[in-house]
Amino acid sequence: MSITAPNLQAASPRPRVGIVGAGQLARMTAQAAIDLGIDLVTLASSPADPAIAACADHVVGPPSSLAALIELAGRVDVVTFDHEHVPSGLARSLVNRGSVVRPGPAALELVQDKLVARADLAAAQFPVPAFAPLDGDPVAGVSAFAADHGWPVVAKARGGGYDGRGVALIAGPADAAFLADVPPGSWYVEAHVPFVRELAVVLARRPSGEVATYPLVETVQQDGICVELLMPAPVDRAVAGRATSLAVALANGVDAVGIVAVELFLLENGGLVVNELAVRPHNSGHGTIEGTVTSQFENHLRAVLDWPLGSTDLMAPAVAMANVLGDPAGGDPMRRLPRALTVPGAHVHLYGKSFAPGRKLGHVTVTGADMAEARAAAQRCTAILTGSTIG
Ligand SMILES: Nc1ncnc2c1ncn2[C@@H]1O[C@H](COP(=O)(O)OP(=O)(O)OP(=O)(O)O)[C@@H](O)[C@H]1O
Ligand SMILES: [Mg+2]
Repeated sequence: MSITAPNLQAASPRPRVGIVGAGQLARMTAQAAIDLGIDLVTLASSPADPAIAACADHVVGPPSSLAALIELAGRVDVVTFDHEHVPSGLARSLVNRGSVVRPGPAALELVQDKLVARADLAAAQFPVPAFAPLDGDPVAGVSAFAADHGWPVVAKARGGGYDGRGVALIAGPADAAFLADVPPGSWYVEAHVPFVRELAVVLARRPSGEVATYPLVETVQQDGICVELLMPAPVDRAVAGRATSLAVALANGVDAVGIVAVELFLLENGGLVVNELAVRPHNSGHGTIEGTVTSQFENHLRAVLDWPLGSTDLMAPAVAMANVLGDPAGGDPMRRLPRALTVPGAHVHLYGKSFAPGRKLGHVTVTGADMAEARAAAQRCTAILTGSTIG
Protein backbone atom coordinates (compact mmCIF):
# COMPACT_ATOMS: atom_id res chain seq x y z
CA MET A 1 0.00 0.00 0.00
CA SER A 2 1.36 3.37 -0.85
CA ILE A 3 0.28 6.41 1.05
CA THR A 4 0.20 9.64 -0.86
CA ALA A 5 0.79 12.75 1.16
CA PRO A 6 -1.91 15.40 0.74
CA ASN A 7 -1.04 18.27 -1.53
CA LEU A 8 -0.53 20.98 1.03
CA GLN A 9 -0.57 24.09 -1.07
CA ALA A 10 -0.66 27.47 0.58
CA ALA A 11 -4.25 28.14 1.58
CA SER A 12 -5.81 30.47 -0.93
CA PRO A 13 -7.56 33.48 0.55
CA ARG A 14 -11.29 33.15 0.97
CA PRO A 15 -13.22 35.05 -1.69
CA ARG A 16 -14.91 38.11 -0.24
CA VAL A 17 -18.16 39.34 -1.71
CA GLY A 18 -19.55 42.74 -0.77
CA ILE A 19 -23.31 43.23 -0.80
CA VAL A 20 -24.94 46.64 -0.69
CA GLY A 21 -27.95 46.31 1.57
CA ALA A 22 -28.46 44.11 4.60
CA GLY A 23 -32.07 43.01 4.35
CA GLN A 24 -33.43 39.50 4.07
CA LEU A 25 -31.92 38.96 0.62
CA ALA A 26 -28.41 39.64 1.93
CA ARG A 27 -29.20 37.47 4.96
CA MET A 28 -30.21 34.50 2.80
CA THR A 29 -27.20 35.11 0.53
CA ALA A 30 -25.04 34.90 3.66
CA GLN A 31 -26.35 31.40 4.32
CA ALA A 32 -25.21 30.31 0.88
CA ALA A 33 -21.88 32.08 1.39
CA ILE A 34 -21.28 30.10 4.57
CA ASP A 35 -21.79 26.83 2.70
CA LEU A 36 -19.23 27.82 0.08
CA GLY A 37 -16.72 29.27 2.53
CA ILE A 38 -17.14 32.74 1.09
CA ASP A 39 -17.01 35.80 3.33
CA LEU A 40 -19.97 38.10 2.74
CA VAL A 41 -19.48 41.71 3.79
CA THR A 42 -22.55 43.91 3.84
CA LEU A 43 -23.12 47.63 3.56
CA ALA A 44 -25.95 48.09 6.07
CA SER A 45 -28.03 51.24 6.41
CA SER A 46 -28.49 50.57 10.12
CA PRO A 47 -26.77 48.43 12.75
CA ALA A 48 -30.15 46.73 13.28
CA ASP A 49 -30.38 45.38 9.72
CA PRO A 50 -31.22 41.64 9.55
CA ALA A 51 -28.20 40.47 7.54
CA ILE A 52 -25.55 41.83 9.89
CA ALA A 53 -25.75 38.92 12.32
CA ALA A 54 -25.28 36.45 9.45
CA CYS A 55 -22.40 38.16 7.63
CA ALA A 56 -18.66 37.90 8.12
CA ASP A 57 -18.27 41.66 8.35
CA HIS A 58 -20.19 44.85 7.72
CA VAL A 59 -19.92 48.54 7.02
CA VAL A 60 -22.67 50.88 8.20
CA GLY A 61 -23.63 53.70 5.89
CA PRO A 62 -26.22 54.80 3.37
CA PRO A 63 -26.09 53.23 -0.11
CA SER A 64 -26.01 56.77 -1.50
CA SER A 65 -22.65 57.50 0.16
CA LEU A 66 -19.61 57.13 -2.11
CA ALA A 67 -17.37 56.96 0.97
CA ALA A 68 -19.36 54.02 2.37
CA LEU A 69 -19.32 52.25 -1.00
CA ILE A 70 -15.56 52.75 -1.31
CA GLU A 71 -15.09 51.37 2.19
CA LEU A 72 -17.12 48.28 1.25
CA ALA A 73 -15.38 47.82 -2.11
CA GLY A 74 -11.98 48.08 -0.43
CA ARG A 75 -12.73 45.02 1.68
CA VAL A 76 -13.99 42.67 -1.05
CA ASP A 77 -13.27 41.09 -4.45
CA VAL A 78 -16.63 41.93 -5.99
CA VAL A 79 -19.51 44.23 -5.07
CA THR A 80 -23.12 43.17 -5.58
CA PHE A 81 -26.55 44.28 -4.30
CA ASP A 82 -29.58 43.23 -2.28
CA HIS A 83 -31.56 46.27 -3.52
CA GLU A 84 -31.33 48.72 -6.38
CA HIS A 85 -31.00 51.99 -4.47
CA VAL A 86 -27.35 52.75 -5.22
CA PRO A 87 -27.21 55.76 -7.54
CA SER A 88 -25.80 54.37 -10.78
CA GLY A 89 -23.31 57.26 -10.94
CA LEU A 90 -21.77 56.01 -7.70
CA ALA A 91 -21.64 52.44 -9.01
CA ARG A 92 -19.86 53.88 -12.05
CA SER A 93 -17.39 55.69 -9.76
CA LEU A 94 -16.57 52.38 -8.11
CA VAL A 95 -15.95 50.77 -11.49
CA ASN A 96 -13.74 53.70 -12.52
CA ARG A 97 -11.71 53.20 -9.33
CA GLY A 98 -11.07 49.59 -10.36
CA SER A 99 -13.71 47.74 -8.34
CA VAL A 100 -15.59 44.82 -9.82
CA VAL A 101 -19.32 45.66 -9.62
CA ARG A 102 -21.85 43.00 -10.65
CA PRO A 103 -24.41 43.68 -11.97
CA GLY A 104 -22.84 46.74 -13.58
CA PRO A 105 -24.05 50.34 -13.48
CA ALA A 106 -26.00 50.15 -16.77
CA ALA A 107 -28.19 47.25 -15.58
CA LEU A 108 -28.64 49.01 -12.25
CA GLU A 109 -29.70 52.21 -13.97
CA LEU A 110 -32.38 50.41 -15.95
CA VAL A 111 -34.04 48.81 -12.93
CA GLN A 112 -33.98 51.99 -10.85
CA ASP A 113 -36.45 53.88 -12.96
CA LYS A 114 -39.61 52.06 -14.07
CA LEU A 115 -40.30 54.67 -16.74
CA VAL A 116 -36.81 54.34 -18.24
CA ALA A 117 -37.21 50.55 -18.11
CA ARG A 118 -40.55 50.74 -19.93
CA ALA A 119 -39.09 53.02 -22.60
CA ASP A 120 -35.91 50.98 -23.12
CA LEU A 121 -37.78 47.67 -23.26
CA ALA A 122 -40.38 49.05 -25.65
CA ALA A 123 -37.60 50.40 -27.88
CA ALA A 124 -36.01 46.94 -27.89
CA GLN A 125 -39.39 45.41 -28.95
CA PHE A 126 -40.14 43.67 -25.66
CA PRO A 127 -43.89 43.53 -24.89
CA VAL A 128 -44.72 46.10 -22.17
CA PRO A 129 -48.00 47.80 -21.20
CA ALA A 130 -48.79 51.08 -22.99
CA PHE A 131 -47.31 53.85 -20.85
CA ALA A 132 -46.76 57.60 -20.72
CA PRO A 133 -44.74 59.99 -18.58
CA LEU A 134 -46.63 62.44 -16.38
CA ASP A 135 -44.54 65.52 -17.05
CA GLY A 136 -47.12 68.29 -16.81
CA ASP A 137 -50.15 68.25 -14.51
CA PRO A 138 -50.17 64.56 -13.50
CA VAL A 139 -53.91 64.47 -12.70
CA ALA A 140 -54.78 65.78 -16.17
CA GLY A 141 -52.12 63.50 -17.66
CA VAL A 142 -53.79 60.41 -16.21
CA SER A 143 -57.17 61.41 -17.63
CA ALA A 144 -55.65 62.13 -21.04
CA PHE A 145 -53.95 58.70 -21.03
CA ALA A 146 -57.18 56.99 -19.97
CA ALA A 147 -59.05 58.73 -22.78
CA ASP A 148 -56.80 56.81 -25.17
CA HIS A 149 -56.42 53.52 -23.30
CA GLY A 150 -59.55 53.29 -21.13
CA TRP A 151 -60.03 53.07 -17.35
CA PRO A 152 -58.71 51.68 -15.10
CA VAL A 153 -55.09 52.70 -15.45
CA VAL A 154 -52.12 52.11 -13.17
CA ALA A 155 -49.95 54.96 -11.90
CA LYS A 156 -46.48 54.10 -10.65
CA ALA A 157 -43.67 55.90 -8.89
CA ARG A 158 -40.67 55.84 -11.22
CA GLY A 159 -38.30 54.86 -8.44
CA GLY A 160 -38.17 53.66 -4.86
CA GLY A 161 -41.36 51.54 -4.88
CA TYR A 162 -41.59 47.99 -3.58
CA ASP A 163 -44.23 45.54 -2.39
CA GLY A 164 -46.94 47.57 -4.09
CA ARG A 165 -45.86 50.86 -2.51
CA GLY A 166 -45.64 53.33 -5.35
CA VAL A 167 -48.28 51.47 -7.42
CA ALA A 168 -51.85 52.82 -7.63
CA LEU A 169 -54.79 51.32 -9.46
CA ILE A 170 -56.80 54.28 -10.73
CA ALA A 171 -60.40 53.51 -11.62
CA GLY A 172 -61.40 57.06 -12.48
CA PRO A 173 -60.28 60.72 -12.26
CA ALA A 174 -61.03 60.99 -8.52
CA ASP A 175 -58.45 58.26 -7.71
CA ALA A 176 -55.75 60.34 -9.42
CA ALA A 177 -56.14 63.34 -7.09
CA PHE A 178 -53.20 62.22 -4.88
CA LEU A 179 -50.85 62.75 -7.83
CA ALA A 180 -51.23 66.52 -7.35
CA ASP A 181 -49.02 66.12 -4.26
CA VAL A 182 -46.20 63.97 -5.67
CA PRO A 183 -42.92 65.59 -6.81
CA PRO A 184 -43.23 66.74 -10.46
CA GLY A 185 -42.29 64.03 -12.96
CA SER A 186 -41.80 61.36 -10.26
CA TRP A 187 -44.74 59.15 -11.37
CA TYR A 188 -45.87 57.79 -14.73
CA VAL A 189 -49.01 56.06 -15.96
CA GLU A 190 -49.57 52.77 -17.76
CA ALA A 191 -52.42 50.65 -19.08
CA HIS A 192 -54.03 48.19 -16.70
CA VAL A 193 -53.22 44.69 -17.98
CA PRO A 194 -56.10 42.18 -17.64
CA PHE A 195 -53.82 39.27 -16.82
CA VAL A 196 -54.97 35.74 -15.99
CA ARG A 197 -51.83 34.91 -14.02
CA GLU A 198 -48.62 36.57 -12.91
CA LEU A 199 -45.46 34.65 -13.69
CA ALA A 200 -41.80 35.13 -12.92
CA VAL A 201 -38.65 33.81 -14.50
CA VAL A 202 -35.61 33.69 -12.27
CA LEU A 203 -32.23 33.05 -13.86
CA ALA A 204 -28.55 33.35 -13.08
CA ARG A 205 -26.15 34.88 -15.60
CA ARG A 206 -22.36 34.90 -15.60
CA PRO A 207 -20.18 37.64 -17.09
CA SER A 208 -19.51 35.34 -20.06
CA GLY A 209 -23.24 35.28 -20.81
CA GLU A 210 -23.73 31.70 -19.55
CA VAL A 211 -27.24 31.45 -18.17
CA ALA A 212 -29.04 28.97 -15.89
CA THR A 213 -32.83 29.37 -15.77
CA TYR A 214 -35.06 28.19 -12.93
CA PRO A 215 -38.43 26.53 -13.54
CA LEU A 216 -41.14 29.11 -14.25
CA VAL A 217 -42.94 30.39 -11.15
CA GLU A 218 -46.49 31.63 -10.67
CA THR A 219 -46.67 34.53 -8.26
CA VAL A 220 -49.86 35.46 -6.44
CA GLN A 221 -50.20 39.03 -5.17
CA GLN A 222 -52.68 40.62 -2.77
CA ASP A 223 -52.84 44.42 -2.62
CA GLY A 224 -49.77 44.61 -4.87
CA ILE A 225 -47.62 42.44 -2.60
CA CYS A 226 -46.51 38.90 -3.36
CA VAL A 227 -48.17 36.41 -1.00
CA GLU A 228 -47.48 33.06 -2.68
CA LEU A 229 -45.29 31.29 -5.24
CA LEU A 230 -46.01 28.07 -7.07
CA MET A 231 -43.13 26.33 -8.85
CA PRO A 232 -43.44 25.07 -11.51
CA ALA A 233 -46.15 27.46 -12.66
CA PRO A 234 -49.32 25.67 -13.81
CA VAL A 235 -49.02 26.66 -17.46
CA ASP A 236 -48.31 24.64 -20.57
CA ARG A 237 -44.80 24.04 -21.82
CA ALA A 238 -45.14 26.45 -24.70
CA VAL A 239 -45.93 29.37 -22.36
CA ALA A 240 -43.10 28.38 -20.03
CA GLY A 241 -40.73 28.18 -22.98
CA ARG A 242 -41.71 31.59 -24.32
CA ALA A 243 -41.51 33.20 -20.88
CA THR A 244 -38.06 31.76 -20.32
CA SER A 245 -36.76 32.81 -23.75
CA LEU A 246 -38.08 36.30 -23.21
CA ALA A 247 -36.36 36.58 -19.82
CA VAL A 248 -33.06 35.27 -21.18
CA ALA A 249 -33.21 37.79 -24.04
CA LEU A 250 -33.87 40.56 -21.53
CA ALA A 251 -31.03 39.52 -19.24
CA ASN A 252 -28.68 39.35 -22.22
CA GLY A 253 -29.95 42.69 -23.50
CA VAL A 254 -29.10 44.50 -20.28
CA ASP A 255 -25.90 42.46 -19.79
CA ALA A 256 -26.99 41.58 -16.25
CA VAL A 257 -24.70 39.50 -14.04
CA GLY A 258 -26.02 37.55 -11.06
CA ILE A 259 -29.65 36.67 -10.47
CA VAL A 260 -32.20 38.28 -12.75
CA ALA A 261 -35.94 38.08 -12.08
CA VAL A 262 -38.44 39.01 -14.75
CA GLU A 263 -42.05 39.51 -13.64
CA LEU A 264 -44.57 38.80 -16.40
CA PHE A 265 -48.30 39.08 -16.96
CA LEU A 266 -49.92 36.13 -18.77
CA LEU A 267 -52.85 37.16 -20.95
CA GLU A 268 -55.89 35.05 -21.70
CA ASN A 269 -54.69 34.51 -25.28
CA GLY A 270 -51.35 33.18 -24.04
CA GLY A 271 -49.52 36.45 -24.69
CA LEU A 272 -46.89 37.67 -22.24
CA VAL A 273 -46.29 41.24 -21.08
CA VAL A 274 -43.23 42.29 -19.08
CA ASN A 275 -44.02 43.91 -15.75
CA GLU A 276 -40.78 44.33 -13.86
CA LEU A 277 -37.15 43.39 -14.00
CA ALA A 278 -34.85 42.92 -11.01
CA VAL A 279 -31.11 42.30 -11.15
CA ARG A 280 -30.63 40.71 -7.74
CA PRO A 281 -32.02 37.77 -5.79
CA HIS A 282 -35.79 38.17 -5.71
CA ASN A 283 -38.82 37.09 -3.71
CA SER A 284 -39.93 35.06 -6.76
CA GLY A 285 -36.87 32.85 -6.24
CA HIS A 286 -37.29 32.04 -2.54
CA GLY A 287 -38.72 28.63 -3.34
CA THR A 288 -35.36 27.65 -4.85
CA ILE A 289 -33.78 27.26 -1.39
CA GLU A 290 -35.46 23.91 -0.76
CA GLY A 291 -37.08 23.50 -4.17
CA THR A 292 -34.11 23.29 -6.53
CA VAL A 293 -30.64 21.77 -6.46
CA THR A 294 -28.94 25.18 -6.21
CA SER A 295 -30.68 28.13 -4.57
CA GLN A 296 -30.90 31.52 -6.23
CA PHE A 297 -28.66 32.87 -3.45
CA GLU A 298 -25.89 30.37 -4.14
CA ASN A 299 -26.17 30.92 -7.88
CA HIS A 300 -26.04 34.68 -7.35
CA LEU A 301 -22.71 34.28 -5.55
CA ARG A 302 -21.40 31.87 -8.19
CA ALA A 303 -22.43 34.22 -10.99
CA VAL A 304 -20.90 37.38 -9.51
CA LEU A 305 -17.69 35.46 -8.77
CA ASP A 306 -17.78 34.10 -12.35
CA TRP A 307 -17.84 30.54 -11.06
CA PRO A 308 -19.70 27.63 -12.71
CA LEU A 309 -23.44 27.86 -12.09
CA GLY A 310 -25.28 25.13 -10.21
CA SER A 311 -28.17 22.99 -11.39
CA THR A 312 -31.58 24.64 -11.29
CA ASP A 313 -33.47 21.33 -11.45
CA LEU A 314 -36.45 20.82 -9.17
CA MET A 315 -35.99 18.68 -6.05
CA ALA A 316 -39.70 17.77 -5.98
CA PRO A 317 -42.60 17.96 -8.43
CA ALA A 318 -44.30 20.76 -6.48
CA VAL A 319 -42.83 23.69 -4.57
CA ALA A 320 -45.12 26.13 -2.77
CA MET A 321 -44.01 29.22 -0.88
CA ALA A 322 -46.08 31.62 1.20
CA ASN A 323 -44.80 34.95 2.50
CA VAL A 324 -45.19 35.81 6.17
CA LEU A 325 -46.61 39.33 6.25
CA GLY A 326 -47.02 41.15 9.54
CA ASP A 327 -50.63 40.86 10.71
CA PRO A 328 -51.81 43.79 12.86
CA ALA A 329 -53.75 41.43 15.14
CA GLY A 330 -51.06 38.76 15.37
CA GLY A 331 -47.90 40.74 16.11
CA ASP A 332 -44.44 39.20 15.95
CA PRO A 333 -44.56 35.72 14.29
CA MET A 334 -41.57 34.58 16.32
CA ARG A 335 -43.92 34.11 19.26
CA ARG A 336 -45.75 31.37 17.41
CA LEU A 337 -42.75 29.74 15.74
CA PRO A 338 -42.71 26.54 17.84
CA ARG A 339 -46.35 25.89 16.98
CA ALA A 340 -45.78 26.65 13.29
CA LEU A 341 -42.95 24.12 13.20
CA THR A 342 -45.43 21.34 13.87
CA VAL A 343 -46.74 21.62 10.29
CA PRO A 344 -45.17 18.61 8.55
CA GLY A 345 -42.69 19.47 5.82
CA ALA A 346 -42.81 23.23 6.38
CA HIS A 347 -39.49 25.06 6.04
CA VAL A 348 -39.80 28.31 7.99
CA HIS A 349 -37.60 31.29 7.26
CA LEU A 350 -37.90 34.28 9.60
CA TYR A 351 -35.83 37.28 8.64
CA GLY A 352 -35.08 38.79 12.05
CA LYS A 353 -36.92 41.98 11.15
CA SER A 354 -38.92 44.06 13.59
CA PHE A 355 -42.67 43.66 13.34
CA ALA A 356 -44.76 46.07 11.33
CA PRO A 357 -48.20 45.47 9.85
CA GLY A 358 -47.92 44.28 6.23
CA ARG A 359 -44.12 43.94 6.45
CA LYS A 360 -42.49 40.88 4.86
CA LEU A 361 -41.11 39.14 7.94
CA GLY A 362 -40.40 35.70 6.52
CA HIS A 363 -41.59 32.95 4.25
CA VAL A 364 -42.51 29.28 4.39
CA THR A 365 -41.71 26.70 1.71
CA VAL A 366 -43.19 23.24 1.36
CA THR A 367 -42.09 20.77 -1.32
CA GLY A 368 -43.97 17.62 -2.26
CA ALA A 369 -45.57 15.46 -4.86
CA ASP A 370 -48.81 17.42 -5.04
CA MET A 371 -49.11 21.20 -5.48
CA ALA A 372 -52.48 21.55 -3.74
CA GLU A 373 -51.15 19.77 -0.65
CA ALA A 374 -47.87 21.69 -0.61
CA ARG A 375 -49.74 24.96 -1.01
CA ALA A 376 -52.20 24.16 1.76
CA ALA A 377 -49.38 23.25 4.15
CA ALA A 378 -47.45 26.45 3.38
CA GLN A 379 -50.60 28.51 3.91
CA ARG A 380 -51.40 26.68 7.16
CA CYS A 381 -47.95 27.28 8.56
CA THR A 382 -47.99 30.94 7.50
CA ALA A 383 -51.41 31.46 9.05
CA ILE A 384 -50.14 30.11 12.37
CA LEU A 385 -47.10 32.43 12.20
CA THR A 386 -49.13 35.51 11.41
CA GLY A 387 -51.73 34.67 14.02
CA SER A 388 -54.56 34.68 11.52
CA THR A 389 -55.74 31.23 12.58
CA ILE A 390 -55.77 29.09 15.70
CA GLY A 391 -53.38 26.44 14.45
N1 LIG B 1 -50.08 47.53 -15.51
C1 LIG B 1 -50.59 46.72 -14.60
N2 LIG B 1 -51.76 46.09 -14.81
C2 LIG B 1 -52.32 45.27 -13.88
N3 LIG B 1 -51.77 45.04 -12.68
C3 LIG B 1 -50.59 45.64 -12.39
C4 LIG B 1 -49.95 46.50 -13.33
N4 LIG B 1 -48.79 46.94 -12.78
C5 LIG B 1 -48.73 46.38 -11.56
N5 LIG B 1 -49.81 45.60 -11.31
C6 LIG B 1 -50.07 44.82 -10.07
O1 LIG B 1 -49.39 45.43 -8.99
C7 LIG B 1 -48.36 44.56 -8.51
C8 LIG B 1 -47.16 45.38 -8.07
O2 LIG B 1 -46.66 46.11 -9.18
P1 LIG B 1 -45.09 46.22 -9.45
O3 LIG B 1 -44.55 44.85 -9.59
O4 LIG B 1 -44.87 47.16 -10.57
O5 LIG B 1 -44.67 46.93 -8.10
P2 LIG B 1 -43.58 46.74 -7.01
O6 LIG B 1 -44.17 47.28 -5.78
O7 LIG B 1 -42.34 47.32 -7.50
O8 LIG B 1 -43.43 45.22 -6.87
P3 LIG B 1 -42.23 44.39 -6.23
O9 LIG B 1 -42.66 44.11 -4.83
O10 LIG B 1 -42.27 43.17 -7.08
O11 LIG B 1 -41.00 45.19 -6.34
C9 LIG B 1 -48.09 43.62 -9.66
O12 LIG B 1 -47.52 42.42 -9.20
C10 LIG B 1 -49.50 43.42 -10.20
O13 LIG B 1 -50.24 42.54 -9.41
MG1 LIG C 1 -43.27 43.61 -8.80
